[in-house]
Formats: sequence, C-alpha cells, structure tokens
Amino acid sequence: MSDKIKGKFIAIEGGDGSGKGTVIQALKDEFGEKNVLFTREPGGTKLGDEIREILHRHSEDEMSVLAEILLFYASRAEHLEKKIKPALASGQHVITDRFSLSTLAYQIYGQQRSDYIDKFRQIDQAVVSTNPDLYILLDLDPEVAMARVNNNNRTEMSRFDAKPIDFYRLVRLGYISNIGKYNGKIVDVGEKTPAEVRREVLTIVKNFLEPK
Ligand code: TYD
Repeated sequence: MSDKIKGKFIAIEGGDGSGKGTVIQALKDEFGEKNVLFTREPGGTKLGDEIREILHRHSEDEMSVLAEILLFYASRAEHLEKKIKPALASGQHVITDRFSLSTLAYQIYGQQRSDYIDKFRQIDQAVVSTNPDLYILLDLDPEVAMARVNNNNRTEMSRFDAKPIDFYRLVRLGYISNIGKYNGKIVDVGEKTPAEVRREVLTIVKNFLEPK
C-alpha cells in the first residue's frame, strides 16, 4: 500500500474529567463517522483492546513503568499500522481520543519518571511513523475537574479515587509543558461552559479539515 497520506490526523488530549468524551461526541455528530474515523487509545484494534484490558487489570504499582510504556506503544503500533495509516491513505480523516502525548503526560510526568524521558523519545520515534497533524488539549485544573465530575457523575468519580490529586497536577504539567512541541492547540476548559468548549473545538477542527 502506498504510504502517501491524504487524510488529516488529529489527536484529542486531556486529563480525566476534562470533558473529552462529550467533545468527541460533538465531533461525531458534526462530521459523521463515514467521513472521519473516530478511534481511541489504548485500544482501537482487537490487539489494542486486549492490551487495554491488561493495563486495566494491573495498576502501575505492580507493573514496571517501562513495561507499561511498551504496552501502550504495542497498542499504538498496531493502531497505526492496522487502522490509522490505512484510513489516512484512503483519504479519510482520523480523530483519536489520546495518542503519544498521553504517555508523556501520564507515565513520564504523572509517575515522575523523568529518568525515562530518553527511552520514551526513542520508543516514540521507533514506533510512530505518522504523527498527528494537530493535537487539541482540553486543559482544566484537576481540582475543578474533580469537583465537576463529583457533581455530575458519581461513577466517573472512581477514576479520581484511584490516584492522588498531585498525580493529576503532574499530568497537567506534562501536557502544558509539551503541547508546544507537538503541533498543539490548548482549549482552556476552566473559563468556559461545556457548550462553549464544544463550539471552540468544532471551530478548530472545521478550520483545520476544511480551510477556506
Ligand atoms: P480510559 O478509560 O479510556 O479513560 P479516558 O476516557 O480518560 O481516556 O482510560 C485511559 C486511561 O489510560 C487514562 O487514565 C489515561 C491512561 N493512558 C496512559 O496512562 N498512557 C497512555 O499512553 C494512554 C493512551 C492512556
């Protein structure tokens, strides 16, 4: 298959409780799943879904960070080769819920493993043959995110119970410190209503996919 890329590749990122799910639903409603392939990480393929289950079964306390990074990248390798690159080559656009920036934010920053930053870069370079053309980061103070989730959805809250708030502060720091190196745009969620956030993301994506 020719590797000539025709479609555009966008990754949506954000900490837990940032409203990523409703933003992605709004994008699906706007663009339709025929014209745009919507996918997610970890997962997106059969193998990726199996890796996702392994990751959910083991907390990082029992799994070494390198094993965890490699599992995310095994899922990412399969995702790229089986799903993302073929779709782009056929002219479809791809919007993924999370990509490499998640690993940098969660594993390297969240888990305070800056000693693995070089390994992370080497693995990323070896695996990621096609990077997103655009990253959109939904940025929200984790304390605000936690309060919002607590008010709206008690089952979602279990995610926050699992890790201390400092973990999410570091994840946010990881995102903000690196988004500039990744063709990224930050959407400040804290200052806006959910409808305003959806409108802002839709405008960014529309202008990117269908420039006038
Ligand atoms: P998921 O249930 O999909 O959460 P969300 O809806 O917030 O995306 O679980 C994904 C979790 O995996 C999320 O907490 C972020 C984490 N993650 C990493 O730690 N590293 C990664 O590379 C990726 C892709 C996800």
